[in-house]
Amino acid sequence: MSGLRDGTTSSLEAVREGEVPTHVAIIMDGNGRWARRRGLPRWEGHRAGMTAVREAIEGAAKAGVSHLTLYAFSDENWSRPPSEVDALMALLEEYVRSQREALTRHSIRVTVFGDRMRLPQAARDAIGELELSTAGGTALHVHLAISYGSRAEIVGVARALARRCTRGELSPEAIDAECFAGELLTREWPDPDLLIRTSGEQRISNFLLWQLAYAEIFVTDVLWPDFTQEHLFGAVVDYRGRERRFGLVKT
Ligand code: IPE
Ligand code: IPE
Ligand code: MG
Repeated sequence: MSGLRDGTTSSLEAVREGEVPTHVAIIMDGNGRWARRRGLPRWEGHRAGMTAVREAIEGAAKAGVSHLTLYAFSDENWSRPPSEVDALMALLEEYVRSQREALTRHSIRVTVFGDRMRLPQAARDAIGELELSTAGGTALHVHLAISYGSRAEIVGVARALARRCTRGELSPEAIDAECFAGELLTREWPDPDLLIRTSGEQRISNFLLWQLAYAEIFVTDVLWPDFTQEHLFGAVVDYRGRERRFGLVKT
């Protein structure tokens, strides 16, 4: 396929030589295809994907990235077969419980955004404990998008602003991009500089529609369970070669 990056990799030495994006976001895709190619059930692909999550977090910390946002489960993913949804929720809880100690020790702060009320109680409890335990982390801030949909987030912003207008606290004319972004779930972090999507799909799939306005996009054919730190470094080195114009003319 043209325009796609194969498994471009790079070394930590190369990544440390220049500018690193402040915020990297990843659409972690291809678990099902990874499993199918091996004649395994889909959940085995999701389990294998947990190793890649560790790789991405470790790689981002080593590279000096400040924010790493991982798309783990979308609003639309709730419509997958119940057996797959159940397996994903069980893996989520297992991952969160098993990684808490190591993440805390490495000073990695983890927060979760999305509609967590839809998650099973056990997964919600595990997430709450992870957020509490890692709250003081300063090396890297990992944001997990779970039960997240960007359209729902934007609808939430519209509702919040409408409520403020109805109460007389805000005039419609005062609503601008900054005011709008101030109501997003991501309001406290900078927008992503680099978006990586694995498995070759060239779409956004309801992820951070507002926030990705000027992100550089890197699509790799690598399936998520095969993704390593070196693939992340490869994407960062590629990003460095981009010219970000933000609609302006280069002088
Ligand atoms: C990504 O892998 C994980 C989730 C969306 C939860 P997929 O399950 O979408 O894998 P493919 O796209 O079917 O290969
Ligand atoms: C996007 O992947 C959601 C996550 C990676 C969590 P999907 O596999 O659900 O997206 P589509 O269906 O290919 O657009
Ligand atoms: Mg997919």
